[in-house]
Amino acid sequence: MPQLLILYAHPDLPASRINRHLRDQASQLPNVQVRDLYRLYPRGIVDRRREQEALLGADIIVSQYPMYWYSMPPLLKEWTDTVLEYGWAYGPNGTQLSGKAWLHCISTGGNASSYSEHGAHGHTLKDFLRPQEMTAKLCHTRWLAPFITHDAKQVQEQDLIAAGERYCQHLRQL
Ligand SMILES: Cc1cc2nc3c(=O)[nH]c(=O)nc-3n(C[C@H](O)[C@H](O)[C@H](O)COP(=O)(O)O)c2cc1C
Repeated sequence: MPQLLILYAHPDLPASRINRHLRDQASQLPNVQVRDLYRLYPRGIVDRRREQEALLGADIIVSQYPMYWYSMPPLLKEWTDTVLEYGWAYGPNGTQLSGKAWLHCISTGGNASSYSEHGAHGHTLKDFLRPQEMTAKLCHTRWLAPFITHDAKQVQEQDLIAAGERYCQHLRQL
């Protein structure tokens, strides 16, 4: 069974509906470990060695976060800058993540149709996720199709439960 490491990055956990529910559901799977980055690093200083060690034990890395300004919350960016070290994750002899896969699990306020060329956001999510895709590829990992939950504010209780089930099913099949 592949080992999944979820890098959970929500700056305001009490206010979260979607991500908190998805995380709680996923954490019940036997092969899933969750690292709650905002809880681990409340002062924003990421421990590079500790994070690299955690990555080594994973087969699949899952970055889970709400989309903020077409990007990721700041601590996850800080995590990326700190942990994906030159000579470790990429560059000469930087092959420590080689052979692993990387999944992004993202929630958005915008609905699915707003993420299109003619929609409110003018681009697809695939376009907005290019930097993350290239980061994964530069680090010799396999980029997996992202798991998206759209229209966050409109999600009803039954949709939330369905999204949790869909997420667990998705993770089980990886
Ligand atoms: C600072 C901030 C920036 C946001 N930027 C975006 C954005 O660029 N695109 C989008 O679709 N939603 C955006 N949203 C909405 C969030 O993505 C949405 O509230 C979140 O995914 C809901 O998940 P949660 O229930 O786990 O908090 C933003 C929200 C905040 C607070």
